[in-house]
Amino acid sequence: MIKEIELINFKSHKKTELKFTNGNNIFVGISGAGKSTVLDAICFAFFGTMPKIQKKKVKLSDLIMDKPVKEDLAKITLRFEINNKNYEIKREIFSNKPSSAELREDGKLIAVNQSQVTEAVEKILKIDYDLFSKIIYAEQNQIDYFLTIPPGNRMSNIDELLKLSKFEIARTKTISISNRFKNLKNMKEEVIANLNEQEIRDKKSELEDYLNKAKDEEILLEEKIRRTKTTLNNKEELFNEFERNKTKLENKKAKLIEIKSAINLLQNEIREVKLEDIKKIEKELKDKKLKLENLEKEKLEREKEISSLNSKIEELEKNLKEKKEAEKFLLSFNKERYDSLKEEIEELKEELFNKKLRKQQYEDAILSLKESKEKCPTCDRELTEEKRKELIDRKEKESYFLSKEISELDKKLSNKKEEIELENKKIEKANFLKKRLEQLKNVESDLDNLKKELEKLKQKEIDLSGLKEEVQKLKTHYEKLKLIEIKKQKLEAYKQEQTKIETEIRTISFDESEFEKLKKEVEELKKNLLTFELNLKHIREIKNEKEKSLEQIEKELEFLERNKKEILFLDYANTTLTNFANTLIEVQEILRQEFVKTLNEVMNEIWSYIYPYEDYIGIRFKIENRDYLLQLCDLKNKWINVEGFSSGGERAIASLVMRIALSVVLAPNLRLLVLDEPTHNLDANTIRNLTEILRTKITDLLEQTFIVTHDERLIQAGTGCVYEFKREFGKKEPTKVIELNM
Ligand SMILES: Nc1ncnc2c1ncn2[C@@H]1O[C@H](COP(=O)(O)OP(=O)(O)O)[C@@H](O)[C@H]1O
Ligand SMILES: [Mg+2]
Repeated sequence: MIKEIELINFKSHKKTELKFTNGNNIFVGISGAGKSTVLDAICFAFFGTMPKIQKKKVKLSDLIMDKPVKEDLAKITLRFEINNKNYEIKREIFSNKPSSAELREDGKLIAVNQSQVTEAVEKILKIDYDLFSKIIYAEQNQIDYFLTIPPGNRMSNIDELLKLSKFEIARTKTISISNRFKNLKNMKEEVIANLNEQEIRDKKSELEDYLNKAKDEEILLEEKIRRTKTTLNNKEELFNEFERNKTKLENKKAKLIEIKSAINLLQNEIREVKLEDIKKIEKELKDKKLKLENLEKEKLEREKEISSLNSKIEELEKNLKEKKEAEKFLLSFNKERYDSLKEEIEELKEELFNKKLRKQQYEDAILSLKESKEKCPTCDRELTEEKRKELIDRKEKESYFLSKEISELDKKLSNKKEEIELENKKIEKANFLKKRLEQLKNVESDLDNLKKELEKLKQKEIDLSGLKEEVQKLKTHYEKLKLIEIKKQKLEAYKQEQTKIETEIRTISFDESEFEKLKKEVEELKKNLLTFELNLKHIREIKNEKEKSLEQIEKELEFLERNKKEILFLDYANTTLTNFANTLIEVQEILRQEFVKTLNEVMNEIWSYIYPYEDYIGIRFKIENRDYLLQLCDLKNKWINVEGFSSGGERAIASLVMRIALSVVLAPNLRLLVLDEPTHNLDANTIRNLTEILRTKITDLLEQTFIVTHDERLIQAGTGCVYEFKREFGKKEPTKVIELNM
């Protein structure tokens, strides 16, 4: 039962709060007052949509109040009770964002967005929007909606309502699948028809036979190879041993040859040399060397002596030269010059003394003349000034000449003195040389003696070249002998090695003929092995090929089998699907019949309960030519189509009965009917009858109805809440609702 609705900014409703009860809730008022809006709001609260939106007559945003003031949010709150549980739905519509919704069960939030809330409501009410809008909610003037559906569409329309159309959809789908299967089966049959199964099977067994034989042959060959390999291994080991010995032997023999030829060579070399006592040669060499050494020493001594004599001779020759020069000097030296020079110097000294004396005398006279002015200093006679001056002048002239002469004499004297000095030195030299000559008196004889001595020494000079050559020869000879000595030792060593190798050769066991035999055996075995292996490879290759062919054939057979199975399955599936499709139709028919039967029973009961006259005694739905027909039964038991009734009470009552019956049968949880302007096109009598039916009978059949009407006579039917809807000022104001107390 719907208990309450609150509308905020919903179309013409600014804020409307309405409470409802059981029975008929009536909305009365002038057209455009906002009555139908409340019914739309109930539908919208339940399902988030309404017929006008579904038919695209209005958009969601048109539901928000736009006059007198444009709002941006509309809100509906609906409270209802079902099976003793209280529910509250809230839906909000926004002008600028998606709508929101919530659903509470006994105050507990159970769903949040638009679609969740709708889904939950559908579960609670056990009907969906389709059923609600077509059965429960009779839109304005649409109470006889079913009768207005064109006959051809009615069946499918009602099938849809009852969800019976799903069977048809399922059937069509099943048939289409079945057809696909049929096609597939045909294709597969065609494919196998092109394959010759017997031929494939014959080929298969032929291949299997061949492979079995090949397998046996393969095993046989493998065994042969295995055995040959073992034998070959053993023989090869033996052969290798032989070969090792052979090489060893050959090496030794080669070595022996080498040694023998070396021995030969050495023996020849030794034979060529005359064998002397090496000790004797060694001693001789030693003596000669000693002698040579001594002689060399002696020679060196003599050379030293000669060199010393030479330097002495050189000294003496120098002295001799000195002596000759001294004698030459002394021969040219003269003492007379010195004596004459001495005399000359004495004379010059005397003359100089006299001149200097006279000059002194003049100077003294001049001085006195200058001092004593009246008398002559010499003669003491009276002197005139003039005479005095003449005298001074003359004296000064004479003094001057004297000075000149004195200086000349001085010069001469000094020259003479230098000369006499030189002469004096010559005298000293002559004295010295005289003494030196005394010392060098014997120089010539000494020199002569020394030269003779040197000559003697030179004649005694020693020639070592012969001895040296002899020593060299002896040395070469000695070294040669020494070499032979070494070769002899080497020879001895070689001979020892020869014996050793010869013994070794004797110990190595090697039989050439046996070796050759073994070699041939190994070669033969290898050849056999190669043949076996080639055969095996060949067999395996062929086997491989045949195996591939067999695999291919097996695949073909498998494919064949699979297709056969699939064809069988497709056949089976097809039959099943066809049966299923037929069953679907049968079930649909049965259900439809069942539904009609039930509905008719309910309708008849309602009809007999509420029909106020006696003219018609029954009502039914008839399925005819794939159509539903609503029929009334007259007193002559004749069924007449309600569609044929152009107007009148029967058509209205029949439609109402049908709606009540559908609501009772299809929406037993709600037992609700919503009627918008049900009196449209009805005459006064019918209106009166309908009002009476609604007032007295409908409440026994349904829990709750909502009736919208502009006809005040219908207020009489109000058994629940009755509201009057008003709208002032040229319908630009919001709706006002007043509850009328009945
Ligand atoms: N968004 C809206 N805002 C305000 N008024 C609206 C809006 N949409 C429709 N209406 C008004 O609501 C009225 C229709 O209400 P309705 O319930 O059909 O009236 P009634 O059923 O009483 O005849 C119209 O007069 C229309 O002007
Ligand atoms: Mg209306």
